[in-house]
Amino acid sequence: MMDLLQAIRERRSVRKFTDEAVSEEHLLTILEAGRWAPSGLNNQPWRFVVIEQEAIRKSVAEKTKYRKVLEAAPLQVAVFLDGEASYNRDKDLQGVGACLQNMQLAAHSLGLGTVWMGEILNRREEVEALLKVPETYELMAVLAVGHPAGTVKDASREPLSELVFRQYS
Ligand SMILES: Cc1cc2nc3c(=O)[nH]c(=O)nc-3n(C[C@H](O)[C@H](O)[C@H](O)COP(=O)(O)O)c2cc1C
Repeated sequence: MMDLLQAIRERRSVRKFTDEAVSEEHLLTILEAGRWAPSGLNNQPWRFVVIEQEAIRKSVAEKTKYRKVLEAAPLQVAVFLDGEASYNRDKDLQGVGACLQNMQLAAHSLGLGTVWMGEILNRREEVEALLKVPETYELMAVLAVGHPAGTVKDASREPLSELVFRQYS
């Protein structure tokens, strides 16, 4: 397993995958990393639906304009916010974001690739119906997971000088 800072720096969104399945062990490691995310009052508002069956993966993929990316991944993890566990929407959204990031970093440290699919939220209710989740579950993202194929698109970040302001008394 790689160093945490290295994983944070080197993780990139992966949108092309080989056909190789994600092992059960790796799937559980990714879900565990999500489960251990911080949350306000430790309310752990995230819920996961693991989608492995090809027919269901395809149906989910049809709900986003990035259909090809989702179809290519051998595994999808739909991440939900459970309204029943929710106590403060802003904080709960932050917690689910931390959960998703943990999962991405865990997958990367295992040599797997992921992409956080947010565009699918445009058809959130259709995905919720398709996956037959309880009414209190609200889709937050679908994480596509698999073994990276080909070259991964590079990404850049704004320099710290544009982001950080220091306060002097
Ligand atoms: C909230 C959120 C929503 C995103 N939605 C999508 C998406 O719908 N499709 C996609 O291809 N990538 C999506 N991404 C991935 C971003 O495009 C990607 O993280 C960003 O371009 C930086 O690239 P990197 O992840 O390789 O560092 C999303 C990421 C986040 C955090």
